[in-house]
Amino acid sequence: MGKDVIIACDFASREATLNFLDKFTGKKPFIKIGMELYYAEGPQIVRDLKERGHKIFLDLKLHDIPNTVKKSMAVLSNLDVDMTNLHASGTKAMMEAALEGLTRPDGTRPILIAVTQLTSTSPEAMKNDLLIDAPMADVVMHYAHNAKEAGLDGVVCSPLEAEAVHGRCGKDFVTVTPGVRFADGDKGDQVRVMTPEQAKKIGSDYIVVGRPITAAEDPVAAYERCVREFVD
Ligand code: C5P
Repeated sequence: MGKDVIIACDFASREATLNFLDKFTGKKPFIKIGMELYYAEGPQIVRDLKERGHKIFLDLKLHDIPNTVKKSMAVLSNLDVDMTNLHASGTKAMMEAALEGLTRPDGTRPILIAVTQLTSTSPEAMKNDLLIDAPMADVVMHYAHNAKEAGLDGVVCSPLEAEAVHGRCGKDFVTVTPGVRFADGDKGDQVRVMTPEQAKKIGSDYIVVGRPITAAEDPVAAYERCVREFVD
């Protein structure tokens, strides 16, 4: 898998997204479209950004009965996205169905990764709200392993978990890691962060970077710095 920097385009409208991307003259960064933008603008925003030459990680985190997820994945695959995801807690059967739906008639398909436990879920909430008694680290690794057994390509995880995920699931199992900050940058609401350089060292395959690029005075320079530190 090629190492790359994915920009989280957490914008509320097409206009704001295009204003941002227009700054990248001659460059076509890999971008992440999340629920906010997708629900605001619909599938056309994906088609338009694809047409402009961007690779797209469509971050919709599907979680439903296997049949519904399978059919929905077929729709996303037709949109020609490059990467998409689901919740591993939907079970192995759901992940297998997703993979089936995502696979195009010619055998190609977008990269499919799983969310293990959301980083916003505290160990207390997992125990008390979800009635999961196992330690968080075990749950994350178990869900990653389930994703691997279901045939998925990898997981979204904290950069701090990437090494352990590769240890358990193999080095070809893709780790996509948000929570990236420059050494001299603002952490915002992220708690467990790593620099792009550290993420490279511990073996992340893709880093997802939002505000350090989108809120930078010079977003193109910030993106280029990420690429320099993580890829080059
Ligand atoms: O702005 P920032 O760099 O914090 O953006 C990180 C992106 O990664 C956001 O789109 C956020 O929703 C996403 N994300 C995350 N932590 C996860 C999963 C996704 O920060 N565990």
